[in-house]
Order: sequence, then C-alpha cells, then structure tokens
Amino acid sequence: MKEIKIETTLSVFEDLKESPENIVSLMKQAEEAREKAYAPYSKFLVGVAIQLENGEVITGSNQENASYPSGLCAERTAIYYAGAKYPGVAMKSMAIMAGSTIHKTITPIPPCGACRQAIAEYEVKQDEPIEIYFMGESGKVVKSESLANLLPLVFDKSVL
Ligand code: THU
Repeated sequence: MKEIKIETTLSVFEDLKESPENIVSLMKQAEEAREKAYAPYSKFLVGVAIQLENGEVITGSNQENASYPSGLCAERTAIYYAGAKYPGVAMKSMAIMAGSTIHKTITPIPPCGACRQAIAEYEVKQDEPIEIYFMGESGKVVKSESLANLLPLVFDKSVL
C-alpha cells in the first residue's frame, strides 16, 4: 500500500481591486449578470462571466425552477451557452460572483461539484487551462490556475 497526496494551490487576493485589471472587468460583468439571476427559491444569486480567446465575454446566471432539480447553476448556464455559440473557441477565464439576498456573503463561493465537472469537459476539450476566479458579493477573490486544480481525479473522456 502507498499513499498518494494531492495538493492544490490557490491564490487569494484581499479584494477585487487587488486582482488583475482584466479580472476586475470580468468580475464586474459577472456582477451585472448576477443581477439577472432568477433565484426566487434559494435567494442565492450567482453571476458568471467567461472570457473567450476571441475577445467575446459570455455571461450567465442561475435559473431556478419550481421543480427544483430542473434549475441550472450560473456556471453551466454560461459555459453551455459559450460552447453552443462559439464551438472551438478557447475559454481563458471564468469569474464567479455569488451571494445570498437574505444574508451577506463575503466568503468566496467556489463552483459546485456538478459545475466543476461541466467546466472540466471544456478544459479537457480545449487542452488549455481555464482560470477560475470566485468571490462573494465583496471581500476576497480566489484564483485557481485551472479547473483541474479544483477537481482532482477528474472523470473524463480518456477512460471511455
Ligand atoms: N448555484 C450556482 O449557480 N452555482 C454554484 O456553483 C452553486 C449553486 C445556484 C444553484 C441554485 O440556484 C442556488 O445557487 C442555490 O444552490
């Protein structure tokens, strides 16, 4: 028997102002997208902006449903649209801003497991890392150099 140790390195910026200029702009677009979230059940609003290699930015927000499992997270709303509208165009960075309307959210909110799996699909497909930045409504911004960093032991097409 041997043990395998898996390590992840993340960067933490004290606030949005401290993060790279292009990310300040991308996060602002995530913030605007968040205002369009439809989250009457959870009251948890998430906005996402994805920077594509061709200069386009795709945004999305969570869309809930009275039949709860039919709703979709902001990350997948955005990434599936990016994949549908610009197939073959690499995704460079994703900015995520999330928080509740019933209490203040100042801790960085990472993408859920299902969204990590969805983002991983595109990262594997393009064979280039997608940077992930996430934050609450304010406060610290966390950066992951790639999605793979957030989802070790990924299940991907290589095993099919
Ligand atoms: N949500 C997202 O949009 N992204 C995540 O990564 C986590 C959760 C949404 C889904 C649901 O509308 C609400 O947040 C509460 O779970």
